[in-house]
Amino acid sequence: MADQPTSQPKKLYIETVGCQMNVLDSELVVARLRDDGYELTDDIDQADAILYNTCSVRQHAEDKIYSALGRIKHLKKKKPELAVGVLGCMAQKDQGQILKRAPHVDVVIGPGQLGRVPELIAKAKAEATPQMAVSLARNAGSREHVTSSFDSYDADREPAVRPSTFQAYLRVMMGCDKFCTYCIVPSVRGPEQSRPPSGIVAEARLLAMQGVKEITLVGQTVNSYKHKEADGRITRLSDLLARLHDVDGVERIKFITSFPNDMTDDLLQAVRDLPKVSRYIHVPAQSGCDLVLKRMKRMYTAAFYEEMLARLRETIPGSSVSSDFIVGFCGETDESFEKTVGLLERSRFKNSFIFKYSPRTGTKADDLYPDDVPEEVKRRRNHVLLDLQTRISLEDNRAFIGREETVLVEGRSRSTTRKEGWEGPDQLTGRTHCDRIVVFDGPDELSGRLTRVRIENASAVTLFGRVAEGQVAGPV
Ligand code: 5AD
Ligand code: SF4
Repeated sequence: MADQPTSQPKKLYIETVGCQMNVLDSELVVARLRDDGYELTDDIDQADAILYNTCSVRQHAEDKIYSALGRIKHLKKKKPELAVGVLGCMAQKDQGQILKRAPHVDVVIGPGQLGRVPELIAKAKAEATPQMAVSLARNAGSREHVTSSFDSYDADREPAVRPSTFQAYLRVMMGCDKFCTYCIVPSVRGPEQSRPPSGIVAEARLLAMQGVKEITLVGQTVNSYKHKEADGRITRLSDLLARLHDVDGVERIKFITSFPNDMTDDLLQAVRDLPKVSRYIHVPAQSGCDLVLKRMKRMYTAAFYEEMLARLRETIPGSSVSSDFIVGFCGETDESFEKTVGLLERSRFKNSFIFKYSPRTGTKADDLYPDDVPEEVKRRRNHVLLDLQTRISLEDNRAFIGREETVLVEGRSRSTTRKEGWEGPDQLTGRTHCDRIVVFDGPDELSGRLTRVRIENASAVTLFGRVAEGQVAGPV
């Protein structure tokens, strides 16, 4: 018989904001803390440890965390043994300031130190002093020295906090070297490092053994992935996709986020030729105006971006592309904004994530350029782009009506169906090969399987359909 636990498991409440990288980081932190005797709870009042895995990309994300910290102050008063932690990008960016603003915080741990969470929580408790672990600043020494201060700890995985049983993120690279002038990521996530392919493939096998069907490779500029072995052999993202394609059990592979300049032909051909690779590419344009792009230091022009897009679409028929845009970046005039509108209109993205520029201390843009576009103008431009994108998404989604698509079924979805006004029983949700969300009626057994679905209706974000006659597809 297994050993009986000698004490009640400690309860962990964790909230994650920000990008997929953070979702993955939280999975790894939870795995470590489980080994340390914690179990997850959704009830913050019951927690013995409350952790926030944070984002610094925009001010709004930081404000939310500071108010959450304010809200839990009373819990800490009631229960002094409660451990409160700020993890991730904000921890690296604000460091000791977090302890000044929120003295009830016990641990401040940057993204390059997350493997130390259990040790630092224990130390904070034992010594009754807050603990901080952050990596070196980008200018604190040689590249090797700074890089070595960002630990990798991807071996631990924790199925319970994945987006779904069948889907998992897999980190292929860390950090970023592009230094777009508006972006805090290169400072908080450190130098770009590509993981050795052998470790990535081993992790994919492990995930497949755990029942994962869809793996999303994550990296800030994932298509810049390049790993050099000691013998000089180079693995590019296209090579890595080919190796992962051979992993039994994995039925779909995606990768996010791509950088326009690194969209090489070998990669596009790999997406075309490897049937398990989703025909979906997220490649942010950020702006359609060359002057703005230059000030952002994106290192391409709008024409280059559009040529890249044409090449992508020519190489990969049936693909879909999504983008990010920042509106109201320093010096963005009406004329520059109109250029962005034009680019968005011509590009026919599946969807676009649109952000109002938020100045970040420590970035080049914040040093060099005034944040001179009024909030009201940013808001208006945000709406204009969103409305236009919604119109395009709806038109392009409606073109799917009457088609049969292969859908990887993710499970039942309350939120997707309820938001669209559906009032019957919860429906299944999944995605097409080009990453479009599909909602349809069907039995639970279809979850985790590739299923042929006939599309009967569409909104700007969702396709609606029914299982095609006698169709449960095998691998795509
Ligand atoms: N302000 C607004 N949006 C930003 N992004 C990155 N930094 C900022 C900022 N300072 C956006 C970019 C990026 C996405 C993840 O967040 O569009 O692609
Ligand atoms: Fe930030 Fe640019 Fe790197 Fe993306 S490529 S993480 S926007 S610096």
